[in-house]
Amino acid sequence: MPQESQQPRRDYKRTLITSALPYANGPVHIGHLAGVYVPADIYARFLRMQGKDVLFIGGSDEHGVPITIKAREEGVTPQDIVDRYHTIIKKSMEGLGISFDIYSRTTSKTHHETASEFFRRLYDKGEFVVKSSMQLYDAEAGEFLADRYVMGTCPHCGNPGAYGDQCEACGTSLAATDLIDPHSRLTSAPVSLKETTHWYLPLDRWEERLRHWILDGHQEWKPNVYGQCKSWLDQGLQPRAVSRDLDWGVPVPVEGAEGKVLYVWFDAPIGYISNTKELLPDSWEQWWKSDDTRLIHFIGKDNIVFHCIIFPTMLMAYGDNFQVPDNVPANEFLNLEGDKISTSRNWAVWAHEYLEDFPGKQDTLRYVLTANAPETKDNDFTWADFQARNNNELVAILGNFVNRAMVLTHKYFEGTVPAAGELHDVDRQMMADVRAAGERLTALWETFHFRDGLKEAMEIARIGNRYLQETEPWKAAKTDMGRTATILNRALQICANIAIAFEPVMPFMAEKLQKMLGMDKPSWEELGSDALVIAGNPIATPELLFEKIDDATIQAQLDRLERIKKENQIKNYKAAPQAPDVDFDTFMKADLRVGTVLECEKVKKSDKLLRFLIDDGLEKRTIVSGIAKYYKPEELVGKQVCFIANLPPRKLKGIESQGMILSAENADGSLVVIGPTAPVVAGAQVK
Ligand code: 2FM
Ligand code: ZN
Repeated sequence: MPQESQQPRRDYKRTLITSALPYANGPVHIGHLAGVYVPADIYARFLRMQGKDVLFIGGSDEHGVPITIKAREEGVTPQDIVDRYHTIIKKSMEGLGISFDIYSRTTSKTHHETASEFFRRLYDKGEFVVKSSMQLYDAEAGEFLADRYVMGTCPHCGNPGAYGDQCEACGTSLAATDLIDPHSRLTSAPVSLKETTHWYLPLDRWEERLRHWILDGHQEWKPNVYGQCKSWLDQGLQPRAVSRDLDWGVPVPVEGAEGKVLYVWFDAPIGYISNTKELLPDSWEQWWKSDDTRLIHFIGKDNIVFHCIIFPTMLMAYGDNFQVPDNVPANEFLNLEGDKISTSRNWAVWAHEYLEDFPGKQDTLRYVLTANAPETKDNDFTWADFQARNNNELVAILGNFVNRAMVLTHKYFEGTVPAAGELHDVDRQMMADVRAAGERLTALWETFHFRDGLKEAMEIARIGNRYLQETEPWKAAKTDMGRTATILNRALQICANIAIAFEPVMPFMAEKLQKMLGMDKPSWEELGSDALVIAGNPIATPELLFEKIDDATIQAQLDRLERIKKENQIKNYKAAPQAPDVDFDTFMKADLRVGTVLECEKVKKSDKLLRFLIDDGLEKRTIVSGIAKYYKPEELVGKQVCFIANLPPRKLKGIESQGMILSAENADGSLVVIGPTAPVVAGAQVK
């Protein structure tokens, strides 16, 4: 296995940071943020604070089949869909402080031209092979069908609504040709096969070079990334089709290619180049074709093969000294409350909704997503953890320390930074500890360990709290104001170090804190310094950096998720197949009646059972029913319910039940009692 975290490359002049272009078929959610945009932004800010030459590229990925499907479903054009989501995504990114130098889109003119030229050059150089194959076809619509456009019965679980690429009922990945009775989602016509021609990138030709470049040359890549590459390479690479029969995308710029577009995964990564070009039309080449540029791709684990194997192959095939990535710090996935995040199931915390629900709390989300980042394995986002990290870490450790240091400075020195006098061992040790934490932090972030680095930043705040606890400046103030001055000067230096160390993760808080302390815009090199705030300078009246998040706020989020879960259960509900026939006489033997509930109470020592006393028109009868989870007993008193009168009596928890109350089972398994829609006489027969 590779040895992780060798020394980062030092011989470069500029760093080009890209972050996966999100599909513009939905808004961005916390999974995207935790996996890609927050770490990329931390890294960009971290380098910029070091005065490095950095470009941070983002944009929307606006092609591909899912966008066309969504457009058809809504009866609008694909352009309408991408316009809508591009706007939402861009605004969310801005709202969360993701500091792209450009956020553009793959429907831009520059991108269409760039992607088209890229294909053409590979074509002219003979870098493609042309192959014919049989593809799924809808003869009625006269269109080839992507797997996603085919529906049929899942061969594994029998779900009649499985898609050609996956059965969402049992989760199996499929090929459309696996489906039983495959039919087109466009016209419902049965699909046929028709021959078509496409251009393929022969990855096999590049296998040796890729092996050497990655497996020998990049053993410092994260084990999950290196491991996935090795597994692809060991299996042997195959030619990959880079065109599709589709009318949404970049047209294949070759004669005879009418009705064909570039495969979305061919054009999307070229989007990084197009967006650089759009931003810097005169100097973009320096960022892509110069040996002293370092290229870093931030992505999620499902994008590894595209960024480590296919796109580099495209770049090498293009030639012209295009640089391949120096590192691809891909993350695993973030789950939400134990379930996979899913756009189609609305199982997500959406960035734009978070910004509305938690105004001014962008940094809390950035902090929590970094502290819990899925760097080495899939992780779970829970609202309880979000609340705990905010209240117990940001408020109780960081905010509390800064507030104490500033309030004490106002109390004893009228809000002016006091001068430090003679230093004691405890002061020197404290600063040495801050410096050491800062050095560990730098080393960790240089090697993309954002989560562990953040712990070191928090360590600085912990050091601050311990320092005040140990030195007790409020006690010194009774006897030795000089000593109090020294301690508070040191405490304010720690605050200033916090304002540096956290800036990449929590830029909004850092800016506020820097202003409160009257600091100049700091550089990363100053981390560990004890001369960041200057004696004699005023500090502002402290404002709270973070506020507690209460239980009701968290409960509202949990309620929303609960609602979504219910909606999904209803949407996915499949009625049970009809039971075998029953003859009329048999059915009529069941004596179904309506009764009026006279009493209802919980059965002792059972959380399922309710005991009813029912007026059945003849007498009062007791029935025990397993619906206690769904009703409060008092809700049912006075209601009329349907029951079977002639079942043999049965003992439940020692009570004899004389019949059974009828209820319907909802999609989530909950039970709803059945009764007449208007009042009837007690004992009315149900026929
Ligand atoms: O997985 C995705 O969301 C893709 N839209 C990422 C594309 S990254 C790059 F190639 F543009
Ligand atoms: Zn299935």
